Amino acid sequence: MKKLDILSAPYVQEMMKTCTNLYRLGWDERNGGNISYLLDEDWVSPFLDISKPIRKLPIKFDAEKLAGCYFAVTGSGKYFKNIEEFPAENMGIIRISNSGDVVEVLWGLENDAVPTSELPSHLMSHIARLEVDPQNRIIMHNHATHLLAMTFTHELDERALTRTLWKMCTECLVVFPEGVSIIPWLIPGSNEIGEATANKMKKTRLVVWPQHGIYGAGRDMDETFGLIETAEKAAKVYTYVQAQGGVRQTLEDKNLKCLADAFGITPHEGYLDI
Ligand code: 13P
Ligand code: ZN
Repeated sequence: MKKLDILSAPYVQEMMKTCTNLYRLGWDERNGGNISYLLDEDWVSPFLDISKPIRKLPIKFDAEKLAGCYFAVTGSGKYFKNIEEFPAENMGIIRISNSGDVVEVLWGLENDAVPTSELPSHLMSHIARLEVDPQNRIIMHNHATHLLAMTFTHELDERALTRTLWKMCTECLVVFPEGVSIIPWLIPGSNEIGEATANKMKKTRLVVWPQHGIYGAGRDMDETFGLIETAEKAAKVYTYVQAQGGVRQTLEDKNLKCLADAFGITPHEGYLDI
């Protein structure tokens, strides 16, 4: 049966539009940032011949828990600003082999491009998130400007950073009640940073990489983008508040407690002084 045009696949369109949006926000300069999107086989098979991988690339860690899983991924070294115009060169559709140690390229990544160098962090984070939320599909990394800036000026303590962000905008606690995690500074693209990120992803969907950027996870593109967007907005407000001379009045812990009760959410245990 004739295959449909992959560029019309909703998830490819979402990847393209999201990358442009992230570029315009200034969070993905040059090739900064990467996205992976877990796809069902029956989302892919109407568009691609899944029996014929174009290329096979080794993975340097055990991804057996994702054997047979399909992902749309951004390419390594590829500029987000170019993805919408030239998707086949700058992103791709891959499958993890049954043995868990090979990436099978099914579409895109043309001219010998490879998936993002952050594939270890992405795949390990998918494994971690799927264990706590079987509906998780997206892992997104970018260099959100104000969050990145805060890693130079704010105490790098998970409770302290979470509390600061929660207090910068009333919606924050509702959007990320579990708070944000922080890993130590580590070499990008390494298995080590992947393991550290994935370990934090078991508890929070947001993981801060000091002096680098942010990782977010979610069930769909909007939710994941919105999660990072909300934390980044809080960081932006924090930046303005500092520039305006610092906090004079703020959300108190008792306000946050009322908010949590009203919205039926559970803030990270021990993070409110109540
Ligand atoms: P890639 O171009 O390999 O995706 O890397 C970009 C990046 O942000 C590394 O952390
Ligand atoms: Zn990065």
